[in-house]
Amino acid sequence: MKISVIGAGYVGLTTAACLAQIGHKVFCSESDAEKLRKLQNGGIPIFEPGLDAIVADAMRDGRLVFGSTDEAIDSAQVIFICVGTPPLPNGDADLSAIESLARTIAQRSTGYKLIVEKSTVPVQTASQLLRHLTNRSKLGARFDVASNPEFLREGSAVYDFLHPERIVIGVESQQGESILRELYAPIVGQTFNCPLHASCPDGHTVTLLVTDANSSELIKHASNSFLAMKVSFINMISDLCEAAGADISAVAKGIGLDSRIGSAFLNPGIGFGGFCFPKDVQAIVRIAEKFGCNFDLLKEVEKINQERIAQFLGKIKKELWVMRGKKIGVWGLAFKPNTDDVRFAPALSIIRELLLEGVQVQAYDPQAAERAAQELPEILYCDDPYLAAEGADAVLVLTEWPEFQHLDLGRVARTMERPLIIDGRNALALNDVVAHGFEYVGIGGVRSSGLSKTIQQKAVFAD
Ligand code: UDX
Repeated sequence: MKISVIGAGYVGLTTAACLAQIGHKVFCSESDAEKLRKLQNGGIPIFEPGLDAIVADAMRDGRLVFGSTDEAIDSAQVIFICVGTPPLPNGDADLSAIESLARTIAQRSTGYKLIVEKSTVPVQTASQLLRHLTNRSKLGARFDVASNPEFLREGSAVYDFLHPERIVIGVESQQGESILRELYAPIVGQTFNCPLHASCPDGHTVTLLVTDANSSELIKHASNSFLAMKVSFINMISDLCEAAGADISAVAKGIGLDSRIGSAFLNPGIGFGGFCFPKDVQAIVRIAEKFGCNFDLLKEVEKINQERIAQFLGKIKKELWVMRGKKIGVWGLAFKPNTDDVRFAPALSIIRELLLEGVQVQAYDPQAAERAAQELPEILYCDDPYLAAEGADAVLVLTEWPEFQHLDLGRVARTMERPLIIDGRNALALNDVVAHGFEYVGIGGVRSSGLSKTIQQKAVFAD
């Protein structure tokens, strides 16, 4: 099928590339001229494992072309909307990009068009969109609108698109439904040629859930806010573990063994970030208020999450005592591993607070340093984790990149002013860290006891 995708961000680019991968002919548009030029020259403006190869293949086979929004509107009957819906100061989703796009689509379209909402939008947006398109259509076009929310995790977006657990379609028209059933058939049947050879699952089953648009829009917000609630729940429990002398790793394992709870999303830390959870939790609280429903539960989820920053800073102050003039190394800036995205990243909030305390910060992240530097130009960015630890009074682990578990910790301990690791994601193995002479402070009662061996040795030699 011929398909247009409007918006080439984390969601749009993955959607365009994967739809091309399963055999469709895709035209993808990007309004940012710089990004569009980069895409047309075969560059990828985001880090998403495996995406560059799929885009390159599809472009080479002529199944994926990049261009302007007008061209995208003109070139296909099915148009996916993947533009950003960032939070407004009051927590509402900003739908202005969608609204202005709807106006352009209405003015340019002829014949039948199926508009597919991939962006995360408040419930009832599809019906608003349909009304807007129909009222403003200039050339007698006929529209259907479908909701088709994305469940892509950054860092595994290609896998999640090609091997989803479920595809949700919210559509009232029979024509719209049959188009989307045909469009997604290769994924439902897992009959496409998978580019992710290594991690391509055998016998993977996909559930295609077709419902009404309102329910589909709510499924997205309800999913994300439930996952965010799980994260805040385990962070709340980790506070009690710390206070009562329990070990959050054991507690999380113990409750996760109940299949009704499940072990995923029970990792305590400095909180959830990214461009989805924080805004989706805020958005659904605002949506519920508009419909007269009480979502105080999710306000608490948000509050617990926001408290992680002050709580982690308290840990640092407790260990360092005087903050002003200290040097702190930071490992990890992205809001999670395997992405370069720093939007709403807890690491940046923590660094901003450290700067206010007069701390000198030197940071390393395998992918996110460039984007972080746009937000925080005043800190030192290092090319490797050893440089970030050099001469530091402490190292903070703020993103659990796998490479941090395979460092030469002896080398790190020797170059630090004080061998102290404060781990905001319980990412490192306590025993391994202590064996290399570090003091280790983790989350939820996971910590070394007393002074580190290196300090004791130093103390002995100092006499
Ligand atoms: C999320 C949803 O998972 C995805 O389905 C949706 O489509 C988009 O939003 P994403 O934001 O990419 O995906 O990241 P995710 O892996 O869900 O993590 C979100 C945040 O929660 C990250 O900051 C992560 O560090 C944090 N998190 C996650 C925890 O703190 N603990 C956990 O156990 C899991």
